[in-house]
Amino acid sequence: MARRKKIYEGKAKILYEGPEPGTLVQYFKDDATAFNAEKHDVIEGKGVLNNRLSEFFMSGLNAIGVPTHFIKRINMREQLIRQVEIIPLEVVVRNTAAGSMSKRLGIEEGTPLPRPIVEFYYKDDGLGDPLVTEEHIIAFGWASQQDLDDMVALALRVNDFLSGVMMAVGIKLVDFKIEIGRIWDGDYMRLVVADEISPDSCRLWDIKTGAHLDKDVFRRDLGSLTDAYTEVAKRLGVLPTNVTHPTKPTLIN
Ligand SMILES: Nc1ncnc2c1ncn2[C@@H]1O[C@H](COP(=O)(O)OP(=O)(O)OP(=O)(O)O)[C@@H](O)[C@H]1O
Ligand SMILES: [Mg+2]
Repeated sequence: MARRKKIYEGKAKILYEGPEPGTLVQYFKDDATAFNAEKHDVIEGKGVLNNRLSEFFMSGLNAIGVPTHFIKRINMREQLIRQVEIIPLEVVVRNTAAGSMSKRLGIEEGTPLPRPIVEFYYKDDGLGDPLVTEEHIIAFGWASQQDLDDMVALALRVNDFLSGVMMAVGIKLVDFKIEIGRIWDGDYMRLVVADEISPDSCRLWDIKTGAHLDKDVFRRDLGSLTDAYTEVAKRLGVLPTNVTHPTKPTLIN
């Protein structure tokens, strides 16, 4: 097999050159990292689950007219995506207080927020991805005011879609992070949802039990990450719910 050109290797994914210009192949690794990569582990099967789940969310968004980079899944660990110019911001939408917001503002985890709150973090591992304001973003040229308005609108549409999809399977979407990129079509530019949408980038709580079904299981050592992600995938119908391994031929009448 011909060797593919590796474009970028990150903590959770690898990007390879795609088959057509303007496309990339996104490979999902099993690596899990937290606290700016201070904590690291390899969790067998995580990449396969995230590839499937990101496909599920992104293709759903495409279907309702929210543009994403997703084209198609290629195999267990890889998907074909459109190459975008990533805006160096992590866009976080919060419905319920948790994580860094609870810590920073002293709001108890689980407190419902009066409205979805959109935050921007500057993507820079060296600085620990600091929270930034619209003033910083515009002053330093990371995005224009128009981009920011479009990014907020895009993020809120993703929030409505994901909240509904998760609510339907008994899961509360507490918060999530997306990355947004630019696609150029001649002089015309549009923004699309890029990177991934998976339990690595969302906070998902079981509505009945409050159990964490996301990367906090890894961050806070709450049990098996694979079990949590498998539960999300099963509920969404992304994985079969009762996988049986027949050991002998069965007669069907
Ligand atoms: N459609 C796309 N086109 C170009 N780059 C993309 C696209 N989707 C995601 N990326 C970038 O690919 C990389 C994915 O790798 P990974 O998530 O493992 O990175 P990371 O270690 O989290 O580092 P980073 O801080 O850059 O996110 C990210 O840098 C992300 O911004
Ligand atoms: Mg990343």
